[in-house]
Amino acid sequence: MTLRKGVQKIYKEVAQTYELVNHILTLGLDVHWRKKAARIAAQKGGSLWLDVCSGTGEMAQNLAALSKESVKIFAVDFSYPMLKKGMEKRDYPNLFPVIAEAGILPFPDDSFDLLTISFATRNLNPRKEILESYMEEFSRILKPGGYFVNLETSQPPQKMVRKLFHFYAKRIVKPLGWILSGSKAGYRYLSFTIPRFYDPDEFAQILCQTGFSEVEYQRFFLGISAIHVAKK
Ligand SMILES: C[S@@+](CC[C@H](N)C(=O)[O-])C[C@H]1O[C@@H](n2cnc3c(N)ncnc32)[C@H](O)[C@@H]1O
Repeated sequence: MTLRKGVQKIYKEVAQTYELVNHILTLGLDVHWRKKAARIAAQKGGSLWLDVCSGTGEMAQNLAALSKESVKIFAVDFSYPMLKKGMEKRDYPNLFPVIAEAGILPFPDDSFDLLTISFATRNLNPRKEILESYMEEFSRILKPGGYFVNLETSQPPQKMVRKLFHFYAKRIVKPLGWILSGSKAGYRYLSFTIPRFYDPDEFAQILCQTGFSEVEYQRFFLGISAIHVAKK
C-alpha cells in the first residue's frame, strides 16, 4: 500500500470520532488554537481563501464564521469520509469542500489570498524533501503578497517539557486514541509523527526555502504547538 493510501485509510477509520478524540486528548486546547489561527488568518483579508488538509473542516468553519459573505473559502482534503463528516455540521454558503491531494492542488498559480493548514503538516512530512515540495505547491497557488498560516504541534524549547510531551504522545495518546476511536493504526501514526516534526526555527527555515518570506511564529502552551505566518 502506498503511503498516501495508508494515510487515507487511517482517516477513513477515525472520521467519525476524530473531533471528539482530539478535544479529549488536548483537553480542548486544539479548539482554542484553531480559533486563534483563524483570527490571525482572517485579519490578512482578501477574497479567496483555502484551508488545505481541512479534515472535518473545523478551521475552515472558523474562517467562514469570521468572513464576509463575499469571501470564498475552499476546504480541500483527500479523505471523503473526513470532509463528509465536516459537512454534516453547520452549513456556510461561502464554504466549498473539494476532494484533492494537497500536493497537486486543482487551482491556478497565484490565485489565493490566504492558505491555512491545521494539525496536518506532519502528515505531509514522510521526508523533508517531500514536505518542501508540498510547501512549494502551497506557495504556487498563493498570490504574491498572499499569506500562509500553519498551525501544528511543535517541539517545546525546554528539554524536560519536550520529553514529557513525547512521553504523552507515545504512552497516553497512542493507547487512549486507540480505545476512544477503535483505530490502532490511526493513533500509532499520530504518536509517531509528533516527535519527528521540526522545531519552529527549522520549520521557519523550510518556509524561507520554499517560496515564503517574512516568516514569524508564536508558540503556545510551553511550545507544544506553534502558529507560523509567512508571506509569499
Ligand atoms: C490530522 S487531520 C487535520 C484536520 C483538520 N485540519 C484539523 O485541524 O483537525 C489531517 C487531515 O489531512 C488530510 N490529508 C493528509 N494528507 C493529505 C494529502 N496529501 N492531501 C490531502 N489531504 C491530506 C487527512 O485526510 C486529514 O483529514
